[in-house]
Amino acid sequence: MTTADTKQGSKVREQIRQVLSSQRQPTITVLSSLLAVQDSLHYIPDEAIRETATFSGSTINEVWSVASFYTNFRFTPPGEKTLDVCWGPSCHLLGAQEVLNAVHLALEIEEEGESADGKVTLKYNTCLGACAQGPVIAIDHHPIGKQTPESAAQVARELRGLDG
Ligand code: FES
Repeated sequence: MTTADTKQGSKVREQIRQVLSSQRQPTITVLSSLLAVQDSLHYIPDEAIRETATFSGSTINEVWSVASFYTNFRFTPPGEKTLDVCWGPSCHLLGAQEVLNAVHLALEIEEEGESADGKVTLKYNTCLGACAQGPVIAIDHHPIGKQTPESAAQVARELRGLDG
């Protein structure tokens, strides 16, 4: 581990401690603490498990069992941008599967998750609320309709900072 890693680690720990101690709800639990960390950092780093255990007087195993029980917690940092692809019924009928295939190729992944370079997080969505505009994708929750496999792949490449 380098000095930079150590400094980064202590900065993250300090940030987590601040998040944990500034919870305002009347009942503070392991779950509320983990939720507060994820709201702030967008994921649960290893340091958060240790800090939450210390903060709540629980063991690391107890904190980990709560964290691993809930599927909404993520343990790796998300990409800088989120790309949602709708595969709900309306979008499906309008070609969402082909759009999704093209996005997978552009991000160099085969399912939900981070692109090969970690810059983009792909999520599947069951309705982005713009069914008449299908197939729909969304960048950081801003929907864009009338997608083709080519246009969606171009968006995905641009989000990675690659030439369209
Ligand atoms: S089904 Fe795709 S936006 Fe509603």
